[in-house]
Amino acid sequence: MAVVPNKQVVLKWFIVGAPQEKDMEVREGTAELKVPEGSGGVLVKNLYLSCDPYMRGRMRENYSSYIPPFQPGSVIEGFGVAKVIDSDNQNFKIGDYVSGITGWEQYSLITRNEHIKKIEKDDIPLPFHLGLLGMPGLTAYAGFYEVCTPKKGDYVFVSAASGAVGQIVGQLAKIYGCYVVGSAGSQQKVDLLKGKLGFDDAFNYKEESDLSAALKRCFPEGIDIYFDNVGGAMLDAALVNMRVHGRVAVCGMVSLHAYTDPEGIHNLFTLVQKRIRMEGFLQSDYLHLYPKFVECVANYYRQGKIVYLEDMKEGLENAPAAFIGLFSGKNVGKQVVCVARD
Ligand SMILES: NC(=O)c1ccc[n+]([C@@H]2O[C@H](COP(=O)([O-])OP(=O)(O)OC[C@H]3O[C@@H](n4cnc5c(N)ncnc54)[C@H](OP(=O)(O)O)[C@@H]3O)[C@@H](O)[C@H]2O)c1
Repeated sequence: MAVVPNKQVVLKWFIVGAPQEKDMEVREGTAELKVPEGSGGVLVKNLYLSCDPYMRGRMRENYSSYIPPFQPGSVIEGFGVAKVIDSDNQNFKIGDYVSGITGWEQYSLITRNEHIKKIEKDDIPLPFHLGLLGMPGLTAYAGFYEVCTPKKGDYVFVSAASGAVGQIVGQLAKIYGCYVVGSAGSQQKVDLLKGKLGFDDAFNYKEESDLSAALKRCFPEGIDIYFDNVGGAMLDAALVNMRVHGRVAVCGMVSLHAYTDPEGIHNLFTLVQKRIRMEGFLQSDYLHLYPKFVECVANYYRQGKIVYLEDMKEGLENAPAAFIGLFSGKNVGKQVVCVARD
């Protein structure tokens, strides 16, 4: 039975406040390249790993979340794309490509096989199964069509618009016939939104002294749909710019991840005044839409109607820095880490 080196990223301790690189450690472990007989498990070589903002919640001890915390000293887990190198499960054979929950390490033994699914190696790049055709893509698809209940001609605002989720929301909204504006944290991202991703307008929120005035400038007639990825001050500013019967889809609050004592939202009374529907959602409630979502978004991609920005960091040892970068906007597009190409 071959035992090989297995580089791993572990959480050192539970964190308080913003995550930092020193909260994680890259260590040299080992892996047996054989699935224990009768285990029903699958041994995979990890190729691409996804950095997602929700993982920050799993690093907190007392985070009342929809998913249990990581344990200090254990390998961090998250979405990944991997290749099967041994299998004791009839649904997966050696050489298959899979996506799903795996470890931040070179080789993982996956025993909860409901966490992975087979994917085809075709004209869609393998790492896109972590973004465009993965969890962020489903989030954008379900959030836009199901939660935002769009109408053609709606005025749509998307925050963190160049990120994994935001860029898809904006493009789906454009295809639907909406007027779409995005906010992002650098001029480079603003240029990409307007140039490459086809948004009607975009602004750098870090250069605006008055977010409400910036939104008023972009939406003189108000906002019908706000797809909120950031929460905090941007949510407050969007609320006062909403139109009557507007919809706010609360997807995430990445701006709050760093705070143990989040600031409050001041403009909630506009929900009453303007009869706004504000709804939080989790993509996991929409897994039944997965086949419809993949067919729709893959077709749009193949037809050139959707482009996808990806930020690929090379090497497992760079995963902690790539992950931390999400919280200061270092990623330009979906943040992925390449562990191995095949
Ligand atoms: N509800 C669900 O089921 C679900 C599923 C997936 C993701 N989410 C949520 O969706 C949001 C976007 O996730 P993603 O995977 O697409 O991440 P992402 O946008 O690819 O990366 C995070 C981005 O957030 C922005 N950001 C970071 N700190 C910020 C701050 N203090 N204020 C404003 N913006 C900040 C940065 O962009 P800038 O440079 O533009 O600041 C950064 O690039 C997150 O809130 C995430 O938790 C929810």
